[in-house]
Amino acid sequence: MNLLELSKEEIKERFKNGELKVALFGLGKMGLPLASVFADKGAKVIGVDIDEDRVAAINSGKNPVREEPGLDELVRKNVEAGKLRATTDGIEASKEADIMIILVPTIIDDHGNVNLGPVYDATKKIAKGLERGNIVITEATMPPGTTESLIPILEESGLKLGEFGLAHCPERTMTGTAIRDITGQYPKIVGANDDRTLKAVSAIYEIVNAKGVIPMSSIKAAEAVKVFEGVYRDVNIALANELALFCEEQNLDALEIFNAANSQPYCHIHKPGAGVGGHCIPVYPWFVMNLAKRPTRLIRTARTINDEMPRHMLELTIKALNEAGLSAKNANILVLGLTFRGDVYEFRKSPSIPYLNMLKEWSNNIYVYDPICSEKDAERFGVRWFEGYEDMDIIVIMNDAREFKNLDIENLNMRHKIIVDGRGIINKDRAKELGYIYFGVGRP
Ligand SMILES: NC(=O)c1ccc[n+]([C@@H]2O[C@H](COP(=O)([O-])OP(=O)(O)OC[C@H]3O[C@@H](n4cnc5c(N)ncnc54)[C@H](O)[C@@H]3O)[C@@H](O)[C@H]2O)c1
Repeated sequence: MNLLELSKEEIKERFKNGELKVALFGLGKMGLPLASVFADKGAKVIGVDIDEDRVAAINSGKNPVREEPGLDELVRKNVEAGKLRATTDGIEASKEADIMIILVPTIIDDHGNVNLGPVYDATKKIAKGLERGNIVITEATMPPGTTESLIPILEESGLKLGEFGLAHCPERTMTGTAIRDITGQYPKIVGANDDRTLKAVSAIYEIVNAKGVIPMSSIKAAEAVKVFEGVYRDVNIALANELALFCEEQNLDALEIFNAANSQPYCHIHKPGAGVGGHCIPVYPWFVMNLAKRPTRLIRTARTINDEMPRHMLELTIKALNEAGLSAKNANILVLGLTFRGDVYEFRKSPSIPYLNMLKEWSNNIYVYDPICSEKDAERFGVRWFEGYEDMDIIVIMNDAREFKNLDIENLNMRHKIIVDGRGIINKDRAKELGYIYFGVGRP
């Protein structure tokens, strides 16, 4: 089907009646919700992933992404209806499809270098199946300029850009709210190589997203939107963290102050905490820093501040133990939270990892618990799995899992009552009334 020669109405019609086929590369936390929504709205979707187990699970109607409300049903229903299937064969999927979407990981190494290997791998496979009038869309977050760097690979198909379309439509969501966000929480950002592609891609996302689209002047501008959203969050969290450290010195409660300050519309101070993790917020600043010719001092400093928060958590841990007359060497320390965010099974850049590594230099008695993890995960990090609160001297809260927010501090029956709260989720006044020594990021 030559999408570039169809009107918007024709494209919408063919999407809704299932004539239009989409190959979606990367069936992860973002890709599978998107594939399922596309199928649910009418398109025929072939999901492509390198993970054979994931592909097999999806083809049997099972959802391997555990943290996404509503996704179980959406996968089951659309697989049963024959509208969604998965494969490891990206070339065959591309040959069949009219639209190819790339939603594979774009992560960085320890030195901030971006690994675009999965993006190039998917692009090479797409090039082998690309036909006149097809459209290739990148949805993965990309350093500005990356989508256009794929043109030479795609042109190995023998087609020139313009004979096929290229667009960037960034995924603007997060785990836990993906379906809601994809279908209409915020407009879709759309940047394309020409007007025909922009029109075709807009037609598609207007079906999927009730909030419609924001057309951008270029692909690179569309890439920058998502990257800047992440940079804004990272810098703002760093500001919150710096002000929180100031509050600790001044014996002020940062959360009380931020809440009050944010009551007027020009102030949006984010939450301070134990650190920034995951493969989005701590990653996207590097997309800018690596490309920039001028120094990016603010962004770099923000990264450093946020990366230093696990060390601050260690300092609070030692201080809290010392206040109780205990040493880290002899105390039993329970760390609550292994994943970077509560209730999301993702360890990439989790602040708990550097925290635990530093803590191990002080203590051999480290236990961990996370409602979404298992003993195996604790073993991977070289610490012991939780065995109960009774023998614990201190709990250190590293993520905001629902279970931790509802922690029954009245009845924990710990050996010593010490809490270090890295997420501002414990009622500090109640904790103090109950006789806990309470330390928290930005708390007096
Ligand atoms: N997770 C989020 O909250 C979020 C939010 C917005 C944007 N993003 C962006 O979306 C993209 C994908 O993130 P995610 O969270 O879905 O990642 P993920 O790690 O959950 O899933 C990625 C999937 O891609 C598969 N994959 C890896 N290499 C592949 C290849 N060469 N071909 C086909 N499949 C391959 C993996 O097996 C995995 O199933 C990234 O660019 C990320 O920055 C993520």
